[in-house]
Amino acid sequence: METKICTIDKENIDIEICKRAGQIIKDGGLVAFPTETVYGLGGDALNSESSTKIYAAKGRPSDNPLIVHIADIDSLYTIANNVSENALKLAKEFWPGPLTMIFEKKDIVPLETTGGMQTVAVRMPSDPIAMEFIKQAGGFVAAPSANLSGRPSPTMAKHVAEDMTGRIEMILDGGDVGIGLESTIIDLTSEKPMILRPGYITQKMLEDVLGVVEIDKTILDNTSKTPPKAPGMKYRHYAPKGELIIVEGTNDKVIDYINQALTEHKAKGEKTGVIGTEETVSKYCADVVENAGRREDEEVIAHRLFALLRDFDEKDVKHMYSESFTSDGVGQAIMNRLLKAAGHKVIRLE
Ligand code: TXA
Ligand code: MG
Repeated sequence: METKICTIDKENIDIEICKRAGQIIKDGGLVAFPTETVYGLGGDALNSESSTKIYAAKGRPSDNPLIVHIADIDSLYTIANNVSENALKLAKEFWPGPLTMIFEKKDIVPLETTGGMQTVAVRMPSDPIAMEFIKQAGGFVAAPSANLSGRPSPTMAKHVAEDMTGRIEMILDGGDVGIGLESTIIDLTSEKPMILRPGYITQKMLEDVLGVVEIDKTILDNTSKTPPKAPGMKYRHYAPKGELIIVEGTNDKVIDYINQALTEHKAKGEKTGVIGTEETVSKYCADVVENAGRREDEEVIAHRLFALLRDFDEKDVKHMYSESFTSDGVGQAIMNRLLKAAGHKVIRLE
């Protein structure tokens, strides 16, 4: 299959291109498109065959449900039952934006889209290209992140092209995304609202609207025996091809430890990499040293993380070390993705 790449300007959206992309979805095909979080791999959410194609294109297990993207609030009532007061409060505050909410699904949503679940994840993205594309596609676009299963999510169209060329009909290239980490997922079908995946909308921001919000404990702790509530969170994910280890401790100890490990790998002729911060990058002796940003600029770190991980693969790095980040605020989402990328391999220096 030929994959057409169409460049589109956020500031001056070409409606004709969005119409063409929308028609591909209506005809049962697949189109990757930018959102404010990461690029999505879109298909018609109400067409079971489209969802099946999405799983095939990504190489994703079919028990891992897709998020349905909508462009207006009325569409929510077409696909979800029992939309609560809490949901409406969150929608008012954070939609359009990087928040996904879980509802009971209506029959119109095929089980292929929800990975066999009776619930449906819904999000209204704020990216203007995404908005126009969803409208032109008929209003209900199922879209996981547009990466091959297991790889870091795409934050640029070139990442999508790396993974999806030949597998989908079209890529809408709207440039670099704004946030760089996937949406926060909150389950509103449980007794107490619960975060299933941390993201840019933090626990504190949600609590300011709803009062107490719980967080699925399995997210930052791999020792838990219970599986995470979002099926996708159980899979190894975001992983670079080589081995990634997170090292925690004071700056001096972390730098010493990592440099020692790097020296040993280098002696064996193995290519090495480090994810450091503005404050520390000049101190590492790795072949590839990635600067995640200043330690306190969590939004910058979030924005760069997936691209850094892909860059290691491009440079064929075999052994990688990363500094650790705080797990408050957006840091919670950063550490969740980094821990998954590292397969939860963490060294804690006393
Ligand atoms: O920012 C985002 O959310 C991006 C962009 C494209 O919108 N999408 C995204 O989709 O990250 P994906 O498929 O890569 O991740 C969706 C996550 C998975 O972990 C999945 O298991 C969970 O959402 N999920 C979907 N439906 C669910 C449901 N009904 N109940 C619990 N978890 C669900
Ligand atoms: Mg994903």
